[in-house]
Amino acid sequence: MAPPGETGRQQPAPLSEDGRTARQKQAAARAAAQLVHDGMRVGLGTGSTVAYLLPALAERGLRDLRCVATSPATEHAAGALGLPVCSLDELGELDIAIDGADQIDPAGWLVKGGGGALTREKIVAASAHTFVVIASAEKAVPELRAPVPLELLRFGAQRTLSALQPARLRPGDPSPDGGLIADYLGAVGDPAELSARLSGTPGLIEHGLFAPQLVSMILIAGERGIEQRPGGAASGLGRA
Ligand code: 5RP
Repeated sequence: MAPPGETGRQQPAPLSEDGRTARQKQAAARAAAQLVHDGMRVGLGTGSTVAYLLPALAERGLRDLRCVATSPATEHAAGALGLPVCSLDELGELDIAIDGADQIDPAGWLVKGGGGALTREKIVAASAHTFVVIASAEKAVPELRAPVPLELLRFGAQRTLSALQPARLRPGDPSPDGGLIADYLGAVGDPAELSARLSGTPGLIEHGLFAPQLVSMILIAGERGIEQRPGGAASGLGRA
């Protein structure tokens, strides 16, 4: 074997950005899976971080779990792992919901909906006593930026879009609930102001800005372990 320094290969090859990010997503997901207990009603988010949550949850072999999925992809994956999936209306409210995020700012505002599931994700988060956000380190940002995902009613969608400029429709299929997915592309500035402006636009079904008050806990996995940030909902109790 060549002595250290001669080939430059004595240290493990640095993980690619993708490998590191994937490992962080998995670490955050596994930590969140530990927050789920027997008998809980669990909201399952959508995306690649949640894709690590589902097997971590299934591996725990918890009894009497009932889950609500925020997308067909999550529903299929959860079902294949033996996690029982019900409708939200069957369960009424949830003990915990766990989901990823596209961006997390220092005040706990989130941008969500990169996977187009923002409306179901917001309904599920708001139905949970405790909403836990799981993310890799690059999701923590100093300030939120576009794109902010939107779901629009199909009726008058071009008119709605022109009221939301700058914004553009995403190519592809409508959401599972028939809405059109678009992105707001302007400056975010104060997320509370933009959230109010977006919510006040007729034809907009939902937007991807999630207020800190929806969030109970944020788990951000980095190279030094998991940072646990409190959400703006100091305790999830009484939120649903
Ligand atoms: C889907 C979402 C996801 O939580 C968000 O896009 C993060 O995705 P990922 O875990 O794949 O990075 O909001 O609508």
